[in-house]
Amino acid sequence: MPGKTLCPRSDIPDGGTLCLLQDEFPIVLVRKGDTVKAYVNACPHQYLPLNHRGDKLLSADSAILRCSNHSAGFSSESGEGVEGLGIGACLDAIPISIDRDDQIIVCETDKKVALADG
Ligand code: FES
Repeated sequence: MPGKTLCPRSDIPDGGTLCLLQDEFPIVLVRKGDTVKAYVNACPHQYLPLNHRGDKLLSADSAILRCSNHSAGFSSESGEGVEGLGIGACLDAIPISIDRDDQIIVCETDKKVALADG
């Protein structure tokens, strides 16, 4: 998926979220002003999409992403579980960048894959 264009930043409401599928891969985008974060849209509680039961995911202060299924809360900044069934778990972050045309692009990760010796 690296290099894939997801959408223009302007498609995400400021102080809101946008859930989409990229090649059948579920993604939730969170926007606060110019800042956008991306996570795999799968709650670690039961691996349901965060918006399975409704699209209002972000708290009034935009600090917490709250799963619509059983209300697990995650930091919108880091994906770390901060409330209820989210505690001890974490959303999987997706590295993104925003190009000069305001398009959100999936980046390469910095993770190195260790290969086992023959
Ligand atoms: S599936 Fe998200 S809190 Fe249960």
